[in-house]
Amino acid sequence: MAAGAKIISGLEVSAAVKERVKKAADELVRTTGVQPCLATVLVGDDPASATYVGSKQKTAKELGIATRDHRLAATFKQHELLELIDLLNRDPQVHGILVQLPLPAHIDEFSVINAISPLKDVDGLTPYSAGMLQNGKAHLKPCTPSGVMELLDYYNIDPAGMDAVIINRSNLVGKPLVFMLLERNATVTVCHSRTKDLEKKLQSADLVITAVGNRQRFTLTADMVKEGAVVIDVGTSRHQGKLAGDVDFASVREKASWITPVPGGVGPMTIAMLMRNTVSAASAIAAGAGVQR
Ligand code: GUN
Repeated sequence: MAAGAKIISGLEVSAAVKERVKKAADELVRTTGVQPCLATVLVGDDPASATYVGSKQKTAKELGIATRDHRLAATFKQHELLELIDLLNRDPQVHGILVQLPLPAHIDEFSVINAISPLKDVDGLTPYSAGMLQNGKAHLKPCTPSGVMELLDYYNIDPAGMDAVIINRSNLVGKPLVFMLLERNATVTVCHSRTKDLEKKLQSADLVITAVGNRQRFTLTADMVKEGAVVIDVGTSRHQGKLAGDVDFASVREKASWITPVPGGVGPMTIAMLMRNTVSAASAIAAGAGVQR
């Protein structure tokens, strides 16, 4: 019987990543005169999205990354958004472009993401970046999945040979994680709302990554988890008035070997990895990078 899972601290790991990113940003300015710059684009007034964008802006400034902050009315038209992205793509002082998702329903998300220059795709969401990731060649990878991999690496948790079950099939989380985990020799199963026998699949998993974000629809409880499993909670929702993940932490930690808390687990990693991508993009652009065609 496990004595209780060890805690995977996103606060500790994100602090380490941010320290390295700050040094790299300072070094880039010192050696090339290029100051990394992140442009964020928020359409509409969803309070959660506004909070996320505010945190991204604040963290960038703390790390010596310049920012542009585009906040647009919910009625902003798709062609206007595409024009803004075109301007940012061509602006030599901007190295990273982040369009906060979700976008209002009248805007086609794919067209907007597809308009971002792959060189400035610090979210790693363009079809170019996704294709490069599938081929094991990505330079800029999606931030939340990269954060998950960084957490595993920091604690020397090697996914090689593990049966990994991901509960999420989005472009932001589930799909990129498939390729990142395959690259590291895990055996990957992707589950979603139509999956049969989810519990059985979970019970045989060595690594569970859950990103549902709705406790009423899904809560990961101890009976679903194998003894000694590694449990990564990417979900965020409000539960009993507090920020919570998908995992019933108190019971699952008795059975797991490693576990992420919410808050303080994967959440802080997403922003840290975005900052890392921004400085990587700025370095590559400063070095004259182009997109392979
Ligand atoms: N909305 C929720 N997570 C993300 C993210 O990682 N990037 C963007 N652009 N939007 C999001």
